[in-house]
Amino acid sequence: MSHPTRRELLVKTVTTTAATLIAPVALLGAESKTEPEVAATEDLMREHGVLRRALLIYAELADKIRQQSGSIDAAALHKAAQLFRTFGEDYHEKMLEEQRIFPIVRKMKGEAAKYPDILVAQHHRGREITDYMLAVTSGPRIASQHSEPLARAIQGFVLMYQNHAAREDTIVFPAWKQSLTAKQLDEISDHFEDIEHKMFGADGFEDAEKTIGGIEQTFGLADISQFTAPPPPRP
Ligand SMILES: [Fe+2]
Ligand SMILES: [Fe+2]
Repeated sequence: MSHPTRRELLVKTVTTTAATLIAPVALLGAESKTEPEVAATEDLMREHGVLRRALLIYAELADKIRQQSGSIDAAALHKAAQLFRTFGEDYHEKMLEEQRIFPIVRKMKGEAAKYPDILVAQHHRGREITDYMLAVTSGPRIASQHSEPLARAIQGFVLMYQNHAAREDTIVFPAWKQSLTAKQLDEISDHFEDIEHKMFGADGFEDAEKTIGGIEQTFGLADISQFTAPPPPRP
């Protein structure tokens, strides 16, 4: 399902508001169909949410790969790495962060400006690791000679990217947002949506969220209640 642009939403809202004055009850259904706006910063953070769910899968699998790589569904792990490649590296990192966000943050005064160079270096290292993951998961099973190096590469990647995304969420994106006027943020939010539609068709985020949900299912990680922490011991 494609998202309307902000201008389309504005038209919809104005139409709905005008019509509501005339027939409020008849329009309740139409009003509830209006999709809320997704600002560029929210877009970036929910993309991180999908990538974090991939990292959680990676983290759960690393020890299993080390102990018994033959028992891992290589195709499902391959699919997760493929999603990280297309949605995370080709789209979120390359098209949004490297082309539209980091060039602005680099020129700012303050702490945030020191981040883009190291974040780009981490993007590159991440791509090397994704290449490696895609290569060793391309067959029906992960060969035993790859199990230790793959587990180590995955654990390094998870630690790097957890730090990476958390710094972007709390330092880099807020600094970038502060440098924009409300109008500029609105325009760039539309622009991000256009890029997403061009790269993925109808809705990149919703498809990516579905894909990661399916991979969680395959590995028995879909039910979030299994992650509720046990009660702590009595002090
Ligand atoms: Fe990044
Ligand atoms: Fe990011």
